[in-house]
Amino acid sequence: MVEILVFAAIKMTQENHKEQPFPKHIAIIMDGNGRWAKRKGKLRIFGHENGTKAVRSTVETCAKIGVENLTLYAFSTENWKRPKLEVQTLMQLLISSLRKELDTLKKHDIRLNAIGNLESLPVKVFKELTHVIEATSTNSRMTLNLALSYGSRDELTHCMKEIGKKIKKNIISPEKIDESVINQHLYTRNLPDVDLLIRTSGEQRLSNFLLWQIAYAELYFTDVYWPDFRDEHLYEAIANYQKRERRFGKTSEQLN
Ligand code: IPE
Ligand code: IPE
Ligand code: MG
Repeated sequence: MVEILVFAAIKMTQENHKEQPFPKHIAIIMDGNGRWAKRKGKLRIFGHENGTKAVRSTVETCAKIGVENLTLYAFSTENWKRPKLEVQTLMQLLISSLRKELDTLKKHDIRLNAIGNLESLPVKVFKELTHVIEATSTNSRMTLNLALSYGSRDELTHCMKEIGKKIKKNIISPEKIDESVINQHLYTRNLPDVDLLIRTSGEQRLSNFLLWQIAYAELYFTDVYWPDFRDEHLYEAIANYQKRERRFGKTSEQLN
């Protein structure tokens, strides 16, 4: 029964595709793992482990229904401040998930990409990540961007430094700096702007995520904790997005 409903929802979303706007780029702040575990009387890490199930189902479904870019906030620059044991376990979980999910990515023709200050990751994580990125580099159905050790302020600082260096070497003149030059120096270069930003767990803040890239994104907040996030919640978010009018500064009349 559940499968029939899910299938119907996929069909519905695919059919809507033609007439209704469909998000090309979905970004998700996967929040609430710790509270999910606490509610069950378990340790925070139990929530992170169960969060990986939501990651798998969301990635697979997004690829199936035709989302071209999915960006998942997995670890922020601020998350390094968490207790050492939690950080270590999260890094370990990342390595095992990358190993386990390589076949899933191949099966669904998904390319893995990573954004963030990747050099700050432990060597083991960096190596596994590079391996999966290389092994999926020719896949083309969907790009999955993992935001790891990612912070928007770090990204913008990095971007300004890179542009500054090029100015110093006379590769770019300051007059030539425009939005596209900035885009090309962000970790997200070559990715389209975010259309739909989802945050789970009831928090309504951005927590240093893609501040430049969400300038015109539609924001969607749900109370569901990340480990409980499944297809029905994704469809709800997409259906909600499809009801909105994106005006980009124009008037309604101009759009019609
Ligand atoms: C999101 O869940 C996962 C990461 C930030 C790594 P949290 O760990 O933030 O869970 P809460 O927000 O404390 O419930
Ligand atoms: C944002 O969640 C980072 C990730 C989901 C990876 P946090 O739980 O770290 O954000 P705050 O601290 O509640 O703003
Ligand atoms: Mg949180």
